[in-house]
Amino acid sequence: MQLEFCGLSKQFGVHQALRDVTLTVPEFQALAIIGPSGGGKTTLLRLIAGLEIPEKGHLCINSQRLESDEEALLAHRRTIGTVFQAYNLFPHLTALENVVLPLVKVHGLSEREALDTAGALFERFQLGGHAQRRPAELSGGQQQRVAIVRAIAIKPRFLLFDEPTSALDPEMTAEVLDFIVELRGEGRDLIIVTHNMGFAREVSDYCLFVADGEVQDSGHSSELFRNPRNPLLVNFLAKVLRY
Ligand SMILES: Nc1ncnc2c1ncn2[C@@H]1O[C@H](COP(=O)(O)OP(=O)(O)OP(=O)(O)O)[C@@H](O)[C@H]1O
Ligand SMILES: [Mg+2]
Repeated sequence: MQLEFCGLSKQFGVHQALRDVTLTVPEFQALAIIGPSGGGKTTLLRLIAGLEIPEKGHLCINSQRLESDEEALLAHRRTIGTVFQAYNLFPHLTALENVVLPLVKVHGLSEREALDTAGALFERFQLGGHAQRRPAELSGGQQQRVAIVRAIAIKPRFLLFDEPTSALDPEMTAEVLDFIVELRGEGRDLIIVTHNMGFAREVSDYCLFVADGEVQDSGHSSELFRNPRNPLLVNFLAKVLRY
């Protein structure tokens, strides 16, 4: 897929979260967004998801401009799979119901179709044994895998991840990252905000470094990580890779 930001600005109160971001991201399959806390990564992801509207500027996905009217945004959101840091599963529903419900309520599938779709995905991703459990009865890694299955069940055009492993311990982190690598291997397009530099380098083909409300640097991941030139990025990598 391909992305284009044209003078994108987003303000929260007096705080400028993104400032006049103008950039063409060339064809990619997996895009990583990295950078310090508070820099604007989530804001950028939410703009791509159509969950926020920019004050100024616009963005294009595959050369198609994302309009800001509610109808266009709703239609847009339905075509994207999103997975955020906190699992956001409904606690009173089983894992399977968590996937089935949006398929029926939001995407208009019949109960039968939704159950078939969800059931097949649970089997395929080794979650079959967990289908009837509620989120509280699952580990963090399992919950997050259910959240990812929920995102792919809608057959999204692409997937957005916002620090999907930041609430997990190392073993569960690996489990979820393996899952994302598998999805990438299937040829799915994805955009991932991550603090895990090793993962960003391994999984992404292109990378944006966002800090202070701007895309400070960007490039093919292999090159950007091997030979960072932007002093802010050099500094950031030195800091996060120290331990
Ligand atoms: N809904 C909001 N209301 C007010 N300020 C916000 C809101 N969302 C984000 N901000 C502010 O905008 C700035 C950018 O936030 P954002 O969440 O995009 O950063 P981030 O790069 O994702 O950080 P982190 O790595 O900590 O998740 C921050 O200073 C944040 O406090
Ligand atoms: Mg964030």
